[in-house]
Amino acid sequence: MTILVTGGAGFIGGNFVLDWLAGSDEPVVNLDKLSYAGNLQTLASLHGDDRHRFVHGDIGDSDLLDRLLAEHQPRAVIHFAAESHVDRSLHGPGDFIDTNIVGTFKLLEAVRGYWSGLPASDKAAFRLLHVSTDEVYGTLAADDAPFTEAHRYQPNSPYSASKAAADHLVRAWHHSYGLPVLTTHCSNNYGPYHFPEKLIPLVILNALAGKPLPVYGDGQQVRDWLYVTDHCAALRRVLDAGTPGETYNVGGGNEKTNLDVVRTICRLLDELRPRADGKGYAEQISHVQDRPGHDRRYAIDARKLARELGWQPAETFDSGIRKTVRWYLDNQDWAAGVSSGRYRDWLTQQYGDQP
Ligand code: NAD
Ligand code: DAU
Repeated sequence: MTILVTGGAGFIGGNFVLDWLAGSDEPVVNLDKLSYAGNLQTLASLHGDDRHRFVHGDIGDSDLLDRLLAEHQPRAVIHFAAESHVDRSLHGPGDFIDTNIVGTFKLLEAVRGYWSGLPASDKAAFRLLHVSTDEVYGTLAADDAPFTEAHRYQPNSPYSASKAAADHLVRAWHHSYGLPVLTTHCSNNYGPYHFPEKLIPLVILNALAGKPLPVYGDGQQVRDWLYVTDHCAALRRVLDAGTPGETYNVGGGNEKTNLDVVRTICRLLDELRPRADGKGYAEQISHVQDRPGHDRRYAIDARKLARELGWQPAETFDSGIRKTVRWYLDNQDWAAGVSSGRYRDWLTQQYGDQP
């Protein structure tokens, strides 16, 4: 048996592949375009491991998808590939439409073609797991109840609108064609191998480099932080036991304001890597212009996943953020490769012309 992962050189997909192969010998075919966010250094420990087959390609390439599905006969597809950064979607939404909407459509069509031709028992067992986001639900006021799976869709950014569109396609392919899909909506992930355009890795690396720590607006926006390996465990659980056609929210139960998150990182760095001048890292905090249309609060009600599939996060925010800060301190080579752009040479460095 084999699984096909899309976007497995990104932050969550990379963690998922590492986690999967740490706990199972079931091979992974990993299809990734290596956009600016794809980083094969994340998967360096799998070099030479026959269980991991990396394929450099685009989910929008239908011929490639057809070939991979026919050749590897996966029992499941886990779909991470996306343009994922809200700020980039504000500057240039085109790539978000191409990958998140059109790419997902191409994937659905290829998977539908493959799945239709499977023998009955394989067809019944097959799953497509689509990794979506809590951002499709829009924003919450301070006293609103957290998002349940029944919350209405109110996406506010080009990114979240493109993810919402993809969700609707996935849903329709289940209702119209019977494709056995599962959709998850997770909150903000954090942990190792996180690209430093996102708040937590950006703040850690800027702090260490003596740069300002940019906090948008008043810094009172709230996110619900989920440690990435807890997310990976939830995805495995949904894949194993989720009901086709159902959606599942995944959250860490860790609502924090952005300013709290930044101050927590500063305190940890003060403890683990104090500044040479004896001052605190919080001195580097700098309030900058707010993100246009900035969603004020996200919070996830993950009780369905707990009740039906028995999943609970293992990390608290305190334990997860300490691990994360430590990871960046211990893996400065990975971070330096990203900051310098060296990570983009990794494909040819590591694999030559034949990844
Ligand atoms: P990421 O930006 O770190 O990684 C995305 C990966 O997809 C990269 O490796 C990139 O090269 C690849 N990719 C992009 N376009 C592609 C294409 N056309 N074909 C093949 N590969 C392509 O993203 P992430 O943070 O790991 O997020 C993974 C998924 O989880 C996304 O679908 C995202 O919407 C969703 N999500 C992320 C978070 C979060 O906090 N990071 C939270 C909720 C949902
Ligand atoms: O909620 C899930 C979403 O979480 C995912 O769907 C997205 O793919 C993922 O990028 C993330 O989106 P956010 O916009 O919440 O994450 P980001 O790390 O960009 O920002 C987190 C919060 O911090 C947000 O309120 C904006 C703020 N911020 C961000 C940056 C990069 C700052 O204040 N300063 C910054 O420099």
